[in-house]
Amino acid sequence: MIEEKFIFEQRGDTSINAGSVTWESPSNIALVKYWGKTDPQIPKNASVSFTLSNCHTNTRLTYHPKENHKEKFDFKVFLGGNEEISFRPKIESFFERIVDYVPFIRDYSFKIDTKNSFPHSSGIASSASGMSALALCIMSLQKIIDPQLSTADFLQKASFLARLGSGSASRSIEGPLVVWGKHLDISGSSDLFGVRYPGEIHEIFTTFNDTILLVDKGVKQVSSTVGHDLMIAHPFAEARFDQAQNHMRDLMPVLKEGNLQGFIKIVEKEALSLHAMMMTSDPYFILMKPNTLEIINKIWAFRKHTGCHICFTLDAGANVHVLFPDKDKELVDEFISKELAGYCQNNQFIKDHVGMGAKAISS
Ligand code: DP6
Repeated sequence: MIEEKFIFEQRGDTSINAGSVTWESPSNIALVKYWGKTDPQIPKNASVSFTLSNCHTNTRLTYHPKENHKEKFDFKVFLGGNEEISFRPKIESFFERIVDYVPFIRDYSFKIDTKNSFPHSSGIASSASGMSALALCIMSLQKIIDPQLSTADFLQKASFLARLGSGSASRSIEGPLVVWGKHLDISGSSDLFGVRYPGEIHEIFTTFNDTILLVDKGVKQVSSTVGHDLMIAHPFAEARFDQAQNHMRDLMPVLKEGNLQGFIKIVEKEALSLHAMMMTSDPYFILMKPNTLEIINKIWAFRKHTGCHICFTLDAGANVHVLFPDKDKELVDEFISKELAGYCQNNQFIKDHVGMGAKAISS
């Protein structure tokens, strides 16, 4: 499927000199989860996430016009200054997927220098921040070739390209809340790119914190690609996709009214539904660890006892994302360091909060 709107028509000589562009792009945490897709990276349901801030990837793309035009992509990729050949296949297939939309990538030799603000082995997926940062760098190159490109078109196409690298990356371009996937009640929503959540958002949701408890810092047991594939023949798939679409709809008045009880209910149900899908697929698997459950039970007891609006969500792993508004920050911060940190590997956790999206970094 080729999306005509995003095809870049090269007009005349587009050659530009060597140079570099840099973007810092954040991670995001889904409230309503994306789990299940069809080719090419089309989600089976709409999802919505908080854009984060402290967890981000910084990517510098250095480009030189190729001396002799070769058809193959020419790039080297470095992580924290060291060449990382294990990233090559993912980037190679990303370039294959996007080349129809950004054909000029064949004309340059690239050096991709990337670093994450969070430890590489933290169990935090870097694909959302990494792929969105690279997509933004490629769009900056397009903007140099085609200066008339508007900011709105720039951001939309950056999200479109990022999606082709990793679905959740489409939600890392802007903030504070981004929707990806068509939903009839959400105007402008699309399966092709993320859009800033267009509905009304109560101020309390712009004060949300996400403290990520690093329960298991190991490499993912099951890649998200494999996980998404298992939804194809999953016996509960259709019910799950309907549930997610309904949660998106139910979240809209919750976000508008600042209904924290309603928020907690939807967010926790989503996290557990995601893991329920994993536990009931063929093959089945459990990504939660005993400490994940200990933490969830502690959060529930603390919430009951204090009345704080604290809740948890999970991504495809054992780490727990603890979500809470600023008004509860003092109490929750103390609770986390005194009572939850002990369940984390080396007592490690990362404090993050809702952010406004990716930033261009001037060199
Ligand atoms: C559980 O975006 O990592 O974090 O499109 O195959 O790269 P690919 O998958 P990915 O899936 C993320 C799944 C999730 C839920 C979510 O972020 O919505």
